Amino acid sequence: MPTDAAPCSPNETVTAHYARHGDLVERILATLPAAGGDPAKPEYAALHQLDQFHLGGPVATRELAEKAEARGLPLLDLGCGIGGPSRMLAAEYGCDVTGLDLTEGYCATARRLSSLVGLGERTRFVCASALDLPFAQGAWNVIWTQHAAMNIPDKARLYQEVARVLAPGGRFIMHDIVAGPGREPHFPVPWASTPAASFLLPANEIHARLAGAGLMEDWWHDNTADALTRIRESRAAAASGEPEPPGPHLVMGPEFLEMRRNLARNLEEGRVGVVEAIWRKP
Ligand SMILES: C[S@@+](CC[C@H](N)C(=O)[O-])C[C@H]1O[C@@H](n2cnc3c(N)ncnc32)[C@H](O)[C@@H]1O
Repeated sequence: MPTDAAPCSPNETVTAHYARHGDLVERILATLPAAGGDPAKPEYAALHQLDQFHLGGPVATRELAEKAEARGLPLLDLGCGIGGPSRMLAAEYGCDVTGLDLTEGYCATARRLSSLVGLGERTRFVCASALDLPFAQGAWNVIWTQHAAMNIPDKARLYQEVARVLAPGGRFIMHDIVAGPGREPHFPVPWASTPAASFLLPANEIHARLAGAGLMEDWWHDNTADALTRIRESRAAAASGEPEPPGPHLVMGPEFLEMRRNLARNLEEGRVGVVEAIWRKP
């Protein structure tokens, strides 16, 4: 860990936020019975309640995959986390997926989970920064990302890298949190313990940087209202005494509950928003 004498770089601050949870595979296997799974024989379908770290979880991933018509394609998943969306795209949509993430421990967890559920051949995981992609120009036809750009300070560089490694006609499919019209978010949130790891831009500035990287908009959707509806529904279910469904909070520990509450409050108060989009390299 960096000391006071050596201040954290943005990358170190981000990986420290994500990397402090010990052996996640052990924790997920221990949590599996609550998600209807068997730790001795883990199956992909039980995992996906626990391994998708974005608003809407597996439902949002499926909706975006349908919209993107990603079926059967080789795909790069930027900021893949512990590989939940990558595994879903491989298992349910027949994609051959390369996940890339800055946090070494998440890549190792992603590999072990994929191998445990028999998806080791159709998913692989690379530890690298989305700001310096280890791929040749034009290497990919489909690049996918969910909830990673909010940890990345240099959005112009991020989208330039996406544009560089996309083949002509290739598509960039994104689902991200953006700055809302309200004031600064309440912290901690699921992607940042403090403002030092959070780099939100308003939707119009994200749009301008994507266009500035030479990409063309195919589809742009403000998903904030849908995210709020889902959050209100889960609150109503909790208030009526329904048991909380299994989710990443079981894996990430009790501090995740406060992060999730703050995210809901930030959405309610217009401090953050949610955007989904598909862009194309001309
Ligand atoms: C909120 S998690 C989302 C993970 C995954 N996309 C999902 O939806 O389950 C954000 C992820 O982005 C990764 N990340 C942050 N900055 C990154 C960067 N510069 N390059 C690659 N990955 C990054 C983090 O390590 C973390 O795993």
